Amino acid sequence: MAEPKKLYIKTYGCQMNVYDSERMAEVMDGYVKTETPEDADMILLNTCHIREKAAEKVYSELGRFKNLKVEKPDLRIGVAGCVAQAEGEEIMRRQPMVDLVVGPQSYHRLPELEAKSRAGQKPVDIDFPEEDKFEKLKGRPKASRGPTAFLSVQEGCDKFCAFCVVPYTRGAEVSRPVQQIIREANDLVERGVREITLLGQNVNAYHGEGEGGTWSLAKLIWELDKVDGLERIRFTTSHPNDMSDDLIEAHGTCKKLMPYLHLPVQSGSDKILKRMNRSHTAEEYLKLIERIREARPDILMSGDFIVGFPEETEEDFQATMDLLEAVKYGYAYSFKYSTRPGTPAAEREQLSEDVKSERLSRLQEVITRHQREVQDDMVGRKVNVLFEKPGRLEGQMVGKSEYLHAVHVQADGVQAGDLREVEITESGPNSLRGQIA
Ligand code: 5AD
Ligand code: SF4
Repeated sequence: MAEPKKLYIKTYGCQMNVYDSERMAEVMDGYVKTETPEDADMILLNTCHIREKAAEKVYSELGRFKNLKVEKPDLRIGVAGCVAQAEGEEIMRRQPMVDLVVGPQSYHRLPELEAKSRAGQKPVDIDFPEEDKFEKLKGRPKASRGPTAFLSVQEGCDKFCAFCVVPYTRGAEVSRPVQQIIREANDLVERGVREITLLGQNVNAYHGEGEGGTWSLAKLIWELDKVDGLERIRFTTSHPNDMSDDLIEAHGTCKKLMPYLHLPVQSGSDKILKRMNRSHTAEEYLKLIERIREARPDILMSGDFIVGFPEETEEDFQATMDLLEAVKYGYAYSFKYSTRPGTPAAEREQLSEDVKSERLSRLQEVITRHQREVQDDMVGRKVNVLFEKPGRLEGQMVGKSEYLHAVHVQADGVQAGDLREVEITESGPNSLRGQIA
């Protein structure tokens, strides 16, 4: 039998890309994964186009693989993901040693594209094909899995925020049918998964076909709640306008749904929110959070912020700082506005880098302080920890609490996949410490 070829995949960007990379590895029959690009017969970069820096990283990484290709002309180099979708053939013009380009909607065709490239062609597939890629992808092989997994349920976005490339790179909102998702969830659980994070660019806009018609995300979550052996459900990323009543209610009543919600707001200024085409105000967002916290008082909120969006004044920025104080996020991700070709805001007059940098550091100071306080508040509390892997110290295990904090515990006899109550004793720089309660 021929030796299997080796596939090296490097993943950039969001969790959806992590999921996609796994599926691409599975679809490449005859290949096994390797962690070292030097050993690889094929290198695949699964790329992110969300901010300029993310896209530029891809080109510099490709530059580094040039030598490998010179040493090993048979090496195939592919670019997948959102840079592939956005730039297409341009990638091969900038980096001629790239052999194939495949967009996020076409990766089920990867084996064909690889074969074409071995036959001397330079295939570029950035279609939005009619066929369902999830149906085309064969089932996941039955290898055992760690205790946590991603499951993609929805892709694409119809919101067209003025800064964002997602509606262009991932296309219109599409939801996978309920039964397909339930099947995949059962399969994951059989293979050892205890926690599933449902993924979608706009996951709470989920509207998949199920028994009796179209199902909401909340209804899907309640169906997953019935899956024996599945202990925890999470979902990300949500849009404020799609936070429906049944989903808010589920946070209060569904025991498997974890008390953590990533709900980006981007700005606290109504003027900027309008310019961003977010179609909600700061006050509407705050009211929403109030309702979510009524349903689940201990929920940990997480968010995204953009500073230095065109026309953002110091006053607008202050409104964002006020919103931060009002919400007090347990986690928040913040970015300087970065122009993305083809999006409306890229055409507008831009603020200076200095102003952006200065605002970002003020914002991040508050975010870090809040994160710290929220984490420190866990000391003395009992949390549930799903253990994932051994820690660095002898006899130590690491897992995540329901609030997604990493927790280190000295505990002989605890294994990956175990769910235990832990009393938190200490709050370190990036994680908590505790003992089995
Ligand atoms: N510039 C800066 N940040 C951006 N994001 C999306 N597009 C841009 C951009 N052009 C941020 C948003 C989004 C997160 C995934 O990335 O905050 O929620
Ligand atoms: Fe991008 Fe999210 Fe806005 Fe959609 S809702 S355009 S994915 S930021």
